[in-house]
Amino acid sequence: MTGRFISFEGIDGAGKSTHIEALADAWRAQGRCVTLTREPGGTPLAEQLRALVLHQSMDALTEALLIFAGRRDHLQQVIEPALARGEWVLCDRFTDATFAYQGGGRGFDLEVLHTLERWVQAASAPELGLRQPDLTIWFDLPAAVAAQRLAGARVPDRFEAQPQAFFERVREGYAQRMAQNPTRFLRVQADQDRASVWQDLQHQLEARGWR
Ligand code: TYD
Repeated sequence: MTGRFISFEGIDGAGKSTHIEALADAWRAQGRCVTLTREPGGTPLAEQLRALVLHQSMDALTEALLIFAGRRDHLQQVIEPALARGEWVLCDRFTDATFAYQGGGRGFDLEVLHTLERWVQAASAPELGLRQPDLTIWFDLPAAVAAQRLAGARVPDRFEAQPQAFFERVREGYAQRMAQNPTRFLRVQADQDRASVWQDLQHQLEARGWR
């Protein structure tokens, strides 16, 4: 019995949330046991760290450390146990978001992020390598479109309040991660209506044997 770890990524406004819910329902209907979770967050401790990261000002290293601290707790308390039970773990954002937002958006040192990734995602045995998603679904759209969608939507957090140029760098960060992990990533063009995005996603998942 092997679980599956699937992460969902994209800049703010990419519209991933409804598709995550719909995919969870679809896989449950196929008899899968699905755990739905998110980052930053996913455990009581990591949710407290999330509130700090989204609303308190701090320097870039502090931000990266808090995000990875929450990730460690989330992996140990939720993700690894669920995978061990054979469940499908659907995670709204994971480490690619750190490379995109902290690395791309903030311009933070990628080497430090790689080091933290190695520490936090080390598997129980060295030969097992790093824990990474089996599949990462990237809802990709231009920052200008995301800005239009989000305009006046709600009180922005520390990331949503960033200018468009920040999200262009975040998008570029995702593109770089995809270039480094082409088989893990599935890119969906999110600059379409919701039904078309869903159809595109279904076709790509079927082509890869995930549906
Ligand atoms: P988000 O999924 O957008 O939550 P919501 O839909 O409730 O707004 O995630 C919150 C923010 O956290 C988002 O702007 C991206 C940011 N983030 C990082 O900067 N680094 C990370 O590693 C993660 C996981 C998220």
